[in-house]
Amino acid sequence: MGLRDDVAKVLISEETLRARVAELGQAINATYTDADCPFLVCVLKGAFMFLADLTRNLEMRHEVDFMEISSYGTGTMSSGVVRILLDLEQNIEGRHVLIVEDIIDTGRTLDYITRNLQTRNPASLRVCTLLSKPSRREIDVPLDFVGFEVPDEFVVGYGLDFAEEYRNLPFIGVLKEEVYADSE
Ligand code: PRP
Repeated sequence: MGLRDDVAKVLISEETLRARVAELGQAINATYTDADCPFLVCVLKGAFMFLADLTRNLEMRHEVDFMEISSYGTGTMSSGVVRILLDLEQNIEGRHVLIVEDIIDTGRTLDYITRNLQTRNPASLRVCTLLSKPSRREIDVPLDFVGFEVPDEFVVGYGLDFAEEYRNLPFIGVLKEEVYADSE
């Protein structure tokens, strides 16, 4: 028995992810230049794999830095509580900030992050997310680059976890209900 046995179906294959991340890279390449080079803010932990692939598709100069935000417990439901576990190392004042997220669900985490980063006076602030679940949105947050809109299913893999596991799966999969049923 392995992690893959807990996956009901593959929602987005490794090949489809690779192609779409390359397209997102092209869109970002068309948006920024070396003169207004972006400062990528990777929101840990879920976005680590997306960031690693996205940054290799970028042609302009750029920097990466990391934030970790806690919005969920180990279960599948949002607690509504958002707090900073790890803050940026760099000062973003006057920088063209691009937030890199793995998934936007209720929008609460991103709303918190954007409001927090705006107080630091960046020159611009945009958002790139691999996945978006519009049906779950509670706060309307503007998204500049979106990889895929996904249905309201429990997705794991390519950085996304359930109870801190499954992040290493190279595809986006839907977890079998029996795996997470006890945690809700
Ligand atoms: C996920 C994801 C977003 C947030 C989205 O992070 O990376 O930050 O939830 O949910 P929301 O739109 O309802 O706020 P999570 O808290 O699961 O942490 P992780 O990235 O460390 O797994």
